[in-house]
Amino acid sequence: MNWAVTYDSAFGYVSAHGAPLVDLLDPQPGERIIDLGCGTGAFSAEIAARGAEVLGIDGNPDMVAQASALNPGISFMLGDAHTFTITDVCDAVASNAALHWMTRDPDAVIAQVHAALRPGGRFVGELGGEGNCAELVAAMQTAWRVFGLGEPELPWYFPSPAEYATKLEEAGFSLRLLEHAERPSQMTEGPNGAADWVRAYAARALADVPPELVEPLLTRVNDLAAPALRRESGWVADYVRLRFAAVRKPDAPPMPEAPPVPPNPQAASAAETPPAPGPAPASAGAHDGPAR
Ligand SMILES: C[S@@+](CC[C@H](N)C(=O)[O-])C[C@H]1O[C@@H](n2cnc3c(N)ncnc32)[C@H](O)[C@@H]1O
Repeated sequence: MNWAVTYDSAFGYVSAHGAPLVDLLDPQPGERIIDLGCGTGAFSAEIAARGAEVLGIDGNPDMVAQASALNPGISFMLGDAHTFTITDVCDAVASNAALHWMTRDPDAVIAQVHAALRPGGRFVGELGGEGNCAELVAAMQTAWRVFGLGEPELPWYFPSPAEYATKLEEAGFSLRLLEHAERPSQMTEGPNGAADWVRAYAARALADVPPELVEPLLTRVNDLAAPALRRESGWVADYVRLRFAAVRKPDAPPMPEAPPVPPNPQAASAAETPPAPGPAPASAGAHDGPAR
């Protein structure tokens, strides 16, 4: 997947829509904040502009190189969100338009974020939510079927709010905000609409398509998606976003050690002395008479 070619030039709206996320994150001067899946560093730069010390992490070396070149005052590092390690815990982890690409094991990503945060640290993010790009995906699936191809490989994780909330809470976060909202987004610079979108964001699905079928297949995707997504003003992507803010819970205090059991001389002698024959000793409920 070549994010570097299309990402900032043709589909800049990904970053543009991330703008208010920085307000939800509310970076404070001097805070140490990770931007996970930082891409070319546009969101990292917004965070840094509020005076925080930012470390951008991305799994694509081209992205890290571009981010470093574009943002000389900010640190960037190559790392997979499922496995990255840092030397010191940080105050917040933020992520814009990236978590839905981290499909191998979303729980592992959340666990890494948890480990990277100090207790009380914030995890703030926006990702594609359940129903994201449903029209685009349906157009792809139909076109693939029409051309006798297998199901297209869709490279995203679009969780429902309930699913993602459960994951965060089970991983040790306290959820402060969770929004699941439609966000129709103008494809401002992808002139060929759904076809351009597939090329940019579903390249993995196209990789298995015989080269001579790619153009007619994408034309069919456009034809199928147009009724829902092409407007007078141009193409609109049917985005549905999941936006959340969570806080790492304090670590549970260690279990107190059980106090030592004092020696009980009576118990010791009772164990040695067999009970005297006779009526059973009185006990609570003995006055109730015979069992009914
Ligand atoms: C749509 S871009 C978003 C970039 C940036 N957050 C922004 O808002 O401008 C998604 C980014 O996630 C990165 N990414 C995808 N999977 C990743 C993973 N497992 N670990 C780290 N980064 C990953 C991609 O390389 C890409 O740069």
